[in-house]
Amino acid sequence: MEDVVGSAIAAPSMHNAQPWAFRFVRGSGLLQLRRDPARAMPVTDLGDRAQHLGCGAALFNLRVAAAHAGWEPQVSLLPAHDEADLLADITFRPSDADRDGLAALFRAVPRRRTSREPFTGEPIAEELCDGLRGAAVAEGARLTFLGEWQVESVLELTEEAAYRETRDDAVRAETAHWVRAATPGPPTDGIPVSALGPRMYDGRAPVRDFTPSRRPGGQVAAVFENRPCLAVLSTPHDHPLDWLTAGQAMERVLLQATLDGLSTSLSSQAIEWPELRWAVRDPLTVGSPQILLRLGYGPAPAATLRRPVSEVLEII
Ligand SMILES: Cc1cc2nc3c(=O)[nH]c(=O)nc-3n(C[C@H](O)[C@H](O)[C@H](O)COP(=O)(O)O)c2cc1C
Repeated sequence: MEDVVGSAIAAPSMHNAQPWAFRFVRGSGLLQLRRDPARAMPVTDLGDRAQHLGCGAALFNLRVAAAHAGWEPQVSLLPAHDEADLLADITFRPSDADRDGLAALFRAVPRRRTSREPFTGEPIAEELCDGLRGAAVAEGARLTFLGEWQVESVLELTEEAAYRETRDDAVRAETAHWVRAATPGPPTDGIPVSALGPRMYDGRAPVRDFTPSRRPGGQVAAVFENRPCLAVLSTPHDHPLDWLTAGQAMERVLLQATLDGLSTSLSSQAIEWPELRWAVRDPLTVGSPQILLRLGYGPAPAATLRRPVSEVLEII
């Protein structure tokens, strides 16, 4: 169980807040996933949507690790009406079948990283894009690669979001809280300066500037790609269940992309502002945008750390 949870927590989460807590009930073999309200971002993450996405991603990694170990997880999402923080009940039974084709993704779990580095601009082969669309569909979501004018529109919305962030003290303070500029030891949560990437000297990529007003040392400038390859992950509806679906689909896409040799980064800036979020929507589909993905080829990014399993897994 410790190994499986160890894989789960390699998942991405907004600002690396790691908003999850696991409880294993030894007698019944039940594993529970809860969200941790102490790691919420009430200003930036309205309704805790991003928190659910992160927990959904952790749940997906957990399913992958279980399948790799020869177990078939049975997942019940939001199993208790009177306990909103309880996101999933999971039980396991031995199985060789791997019906959902999850075990093959296991290799990618420790390798997947958010890259805030410049990408080369080399196009991604259509068959890889198809595979990534399929990965989202397999988990009940939709991945839409953006055409030229949609890229332009989403970049403008992200720029608008970035501008609003710089003018909003509460947003700035919440983001700054998760940037680990100078901690005495290696930070086990939040984003270390080493993972922030270079400043964007030129080019257009939706990469969040986590320290717009303050430049911690060592942040060099670089030229980013001019025409980023962007895709929006969306779900038919927009409730906590959909957010958990989106989180699992996001992680399936990211792991598949990692196996395909792609670098990836996530952006939720435009999606965090309700007035901007509706405009991120693909006008041809009805659905709620949940996260923006940037994909391409680029250098290996620096890693972010995780809290130890012993801090997030309670065994009773
Ligand atoms: C819901 C969600 C929203 C995110 N939004 C952003 C974002 O706007 N900008 C960004 O650079 N990274 C974003 N991230 C990526 C996290 O910062 C990243 O996952 C975290 O720092 C852990 O690093 P890792 O992905 O390399 O393991 C987001 C991740 C999630 C799950």
